[in-house]
Amino acid sequence: MIKDKEWVINEIEKIACFGKGPRGITRLAFSQTAVESQEYIISLMKQEGLVVTVDQIGNIIGRLEGKDNTLPAVATGSHLDTVPEGGKYDGVLGVIGGLAAMRRLKDRGGLTHPVELIVFASEESSRFGFATIGSKTMVGLANSIAWSKAKDQDGRSFPEVMLENQYDLEHLSAAARSSEDIKAFIELHIEQGRVLEKEGRTIGIVEAIAAPTRLKIIVEGVAAHSGSTPMEERQDALVSASMIVLAIQEIGLEQSSYGTVATVGMLKVHPGSINVIPGVVEMHVDIRGIDHESIIECLQDIKDAISAIAEEQETGVSIVMLSAEKPVKMNKEIMSLIKKVCNEKNVSYQFLHSRAGHDAMNLSRLAPTGMIFVPSKDGVSHNPDEYTKDDDIMVGIDILTETLYQLAK
Ligand code: GLV
Ligand code: MN
Ligand code: MN
Repeated sequence: MIKDKEWVINEIEKIACFGKGPRGITRLAFSQTAVESQEYIISLMKQEGLVVTVDQIGNIIGRLEGKDNTLPAVATGSHLDTVPEGGKYDGVLGVIGGLAAMRRLKDRGGLTHPVELIVFASEESSRFGFATIGSKTMVGLANSIAWSKAKDQDGRSFPEVMLENQYDLEHLSAAARSSEDIKAFIELHIEQGRVLEKEGRTIGIVEAIAAPTRLKIIVEGVAAHSGSTPMEERQDALVSASMIVLAIQEIGLEQSSYGTVATVGMLKVHPGSINVIPGVVEMHVDIRGIDHESIIECLQDIKDAISAIAEEQETGVSIVMLSAEKPVKMNKEIMSLIKKVCNEKNVSYQFLHSRAGHDAMNLSRLAPTGMIFVPSKDGVSHNPDEYTKDDDIMVGIDILTETLYQLAK
């Protein structure tokens, strides 16, 4: 057998080949490259002797049987889909690291509970604007009505893409699992922030995950000739939208002492022509934080600022709430167990918050849930330069494996 570390680093590199482009890795949810990476992981799971099933939304479950398979499974996992031009560790670490842990557990033996590796479908919101579609479906929170209206950047609808992948939106409830199926869920992930690097610690034990609140804002002006319309007679939707972007930045800064952040990550300008004053702008806003009150205040301030700008600029505006999720606390006993494992292995650790979203947010509704972070160089993520040292990856896998073992033995 190839040595453990070599195997892990090699498999991370192999997954990175699916969707590798001139700048970073693009494996958008349900795309051809995502499907190919899923097929590859299924083949790896089977090679390791796991029993593999795929549910109605494309979540992959690889199961290692324990002594008593009627008991709830101890589960780990993450995702393979990426943002456009992403890096090679976000999600992949929890999938390959999870599989490495299963390989070790299989060799070690002595498991009473079954152990599962779950590869969640569509964790990133990049393609359809909705995050963690696979894990939401698994915990019975599929929102087929909202999802059916979603379209990707190429105008392809979510139902159309589901159908093409042979998933059936009508039957998503069949993918829902219950608390009786899962004893605990542990996700290994890169930190995507700077805390561990700054503090010089190797393991992050997540206390809470910031959940996204998301808006679509549609600004309506009047499309007109860019040459013949005098400056004082314009209702330029992009000018209003730009003022809204700056207001959101200001409001985000005001709330930043509570750890809240606000971002406009997408603007669509219509009709989008050099000689036409923009008539309509669609913008997507992502608000995140751990402090619920601060998120509510941020949202209200954004709405007030938008109304004031729209009035002053005489442009129409409508706001659609895409999602409003609450920050999620991780389970205290799982956090203590991870801490105990770190102490036993003499590994430095730090309790911290996750500012990014994860499938663990949803799994925490079914079972006691925890997350293990490893450092991200310069805190960079959702970027081709995302990097975590091989040695840190291996420590993360050690801590994950022992935590899973303690829960499943
Ligand atoms: C997932 O990466 C997120 O957008 O937080
Ligand atoms: Mn991500
Ligand atoms: Mn991720």
